[in-house]
Amino acid sequence: MRIAVFVLSFIWLVSGELLEDDQDSSVPEDWTLVEGVKPLEEVELTFALKQQKVKQLKELLKLVSDPDSHQYGKYLSLDEVAALVKPSKLTENLVQNWLQRHGVKNCHTVVTRDFLQCVMTVQVAEALLPGAKFHRYKRHSHTVLRSTSLYSVHKDVHRHLDFVGGIHRFPPKGKNISKGWQGARQSALSYQLGATPSVIRARYNLTAGDVGTATNNSQAVAQFLEEYYHPDDLAEFMRLFAGGFTHMSAVDRVVGTQGGGEAGTEASLDVEYIMSSGANISTWVFTNPGRHESQEPFLQWMLLLNNMSEVPWVHTISYGDDEDSLSDAYMNRINTEFMKAGLRGISLLFASGDSGAGCRHLTKKNTFRPSFPASSPYVTTVGGTSFKSPLKFNYEVTDSISGGGFSNVFAMPDYQVGAVQAYLKSVQPLPPQTYFNITGRAYPDLAALSDNYWVVTNLKPVAAVSGTSASTPVVGGILSLINDQRFLKGLPSLGFINPRLYKLQGKGLYDVTQGCHMSCRDDKVKGKGFCASPSWDPVTGWGTPNYPALLKALMD
Ligand SMILES: *[C@@H]1O[C@H](CO)[C@@H](O)[C@H](O)[C@H]1NC(C)=O
Ligand SMILES: *[C@@H]1O[C@H](CO)[C@@H](O)[C@H](O)[C@H]1NC(C)=O
Ligand SMILES: *[C@@H]1O[C@H](CO)[C@@H](O)[C@H](O)[C@H]1NC(C)=O
Ligand SMILES: *[C@@H]1O[C@H](CO)[C@@H](O)[C@H](O)[C@H]1NC(C)=O
Ligand SMILES: *[C@@H]1O[C@H](CO)[C@@H](O)[C@H](O)[C@H]1NC(C)=O
Ligand SMILES: *[C@@H]1O[C@H](CO)[C@@H](O)[C@H](O)[C@H]1NC(C)=O
Repeated sequence: MRIAVFVLSFIWLVSGELLEDDQDSSVPEDWTLVEGVKPLEEVELTFALKQQKVKQLKELLKLVSDPDSHQYGKYLSLDEVAALVKPSKLTENLVQNWLQRHGVKNCHTVVTRDFLQCVMTVQVAEALLPGAKFHRYKRHSHTVLRSTSLYSVHKDVHRHLDFVGGIHRFPPKGKNISKGWQGARQSALSYQLGATPSVIRARYNLTAGDVGTATNNSQAVAQFLEEYYHPDDLAEFMRLFAGGFTHMSAVDRVVGTQGGGEAGTEASLDVEYIMSSGANISTWVFTNPGRHESQEPFLQWMLLLNNMSEVPWVHTISYGDDEDSLSDAYMNRINTEFMKAGLRGISLLFASGDSGAGCRHLTKKNTFRPSFPASSPYVTTVGGTSFKSPLKFNYEVTDSISGGGFSNVFAMPDYQVGAVQAYLKSVQPLPPQTYFNITGRAYPDLAALSDNYWVVTNLKPVAAVSGTSASTPVVGGILSLINDQRFLKGLPSLGFINPRLYKLQGKGLYDVTQGCHMSCRDDKVKGKGFCASPSWDPVTGWGTPNYPALLKALMD
């Protein structure tokens, strides 16, 4: 494999240079090759143009997110972000000339001018990007066009592009987050087992009066799979489960294309629970299964979010890929996109994943497997807990699936150094150091219940839905309630919350101190990853929200 790549890149050297040469371009096992692609079929590719002043962007984000800085909360508008990062004229001209030389004309840019989305034929794309060869792949009824060989770009533009989207990365795989017994027990009694809005609200100390009232507040969930939330499911869920507090029963805005297929458990879960903790707050759904067969749904969402001047303040996203399956160029650029959102006062919450520390099987040794975007230093990552006793809703312990660990790509950000060092010093024994990267960004940042949720999907109540895709919208809704109170006092949104969260040192959160999450099933670690401990830990972060206390800590 390596040798083949070397030989090919040697041949291209005459005119092109590889971009993203560390991108995993293999086909995930659940996709199958269906047929060749005709030269005149169309693909839509996304060109990520090199930005300017990324360092300055990073410095500014630090200032607006640091509660001790006098610039705290002084967010930028989209136009101001654009003025900062937009590519140089030289970059724009070279990329445009290169595209024009190949007859690519149908392109859209964005407000920040750092992405170009262009539609072209497969024939043109393959000439433009030597090495790329498109094929059609299928999973269930979903088809995509992707290339399993690496691509290069002309040497004139190599320095001016971060990556080209729509060639390699496959859409994420839907997890099986439901443990079953669908519709089997619908009696009021059985609802006492498992998490419902009233259980969640009681545990996190939300009273009937703790609902949104500010008119300009809003929150959002994003979905990328070929599955959809159904308005009827949401209404039925609220009818069945949401007694005793004021709430909305409909989504205010759907951005993107909602397909007509079956409702998905994941999509139902996200919207039902963000609207239960963040009750009576206007909620949007971003839905992006990828319009074109060549689109990358997550990238598509990122572009859309960073190209709209008015977007909700809090976004929760239940999506992740293995860090080692993505190119550094791609992850670094997506990181910059996260910074752009943070600088505008937007909070991005990602699920930490459902495989504990994960496991990567290498020849003769194993290592833990971090997940991205959970491992990004510029998002807030949410882990999972369960009740210690299924009948007593007052004590949380680690949910063994809770994703957590240390990035192999991103260095530990300043805001968490103290907390992580304290953990590494005080907790013994740690997993062997060959399994994780002690210098990396450690996650999650906080957590919430992730076990045994009730949801309504396809008009049926479904029990035992679990995963950090449940805890993430719950935390998102709670941050939205805090934003709400801040807006009423004329304060800015919480924005990128991590620097402030780590300064709280756990104030306003229930510390989770028991249990370990899972990892490699080998002789050395025997399925055990990291363990929770007093204060911050790489399993449940700082712990789970105690709303009134957290609100008090974040109201200035
Ligand atoms: C970005 O938004 C502008 C309007 O603000 C629109 O004209 C443009 O087409 C959008 N770009 C993409 C790629 O959607
Ligand atoms: C998910 O897993 C449960 C058992 O763990 C099984 O009953 C159910 O059929 C699975 N659902 C899907 C969609 O695979
Ligand atoms: C929150 O709930 C816990 C347990 O129900 C209770 O002990 C506590 O007093 C409540 N309020 C605050 C502000 O913590
Ligand atoms: C619900 O929110 C609206 C604003 O969207 C507000 O006018 C209303 O008072 C809120 N309801 C409650 C019970 O706070
Ligand atoms: C460990 O993480 C650092 C970033 O903090 C990275 O530069 C380094 O390559 C990583 N090491 C391994 C073995 O992945
Ligand atoms: C939201 O509206 C309130 C008044 O209801 C105002 O004080 C606040 O500044 C507004 N916040 C934002 C972020 O627009």
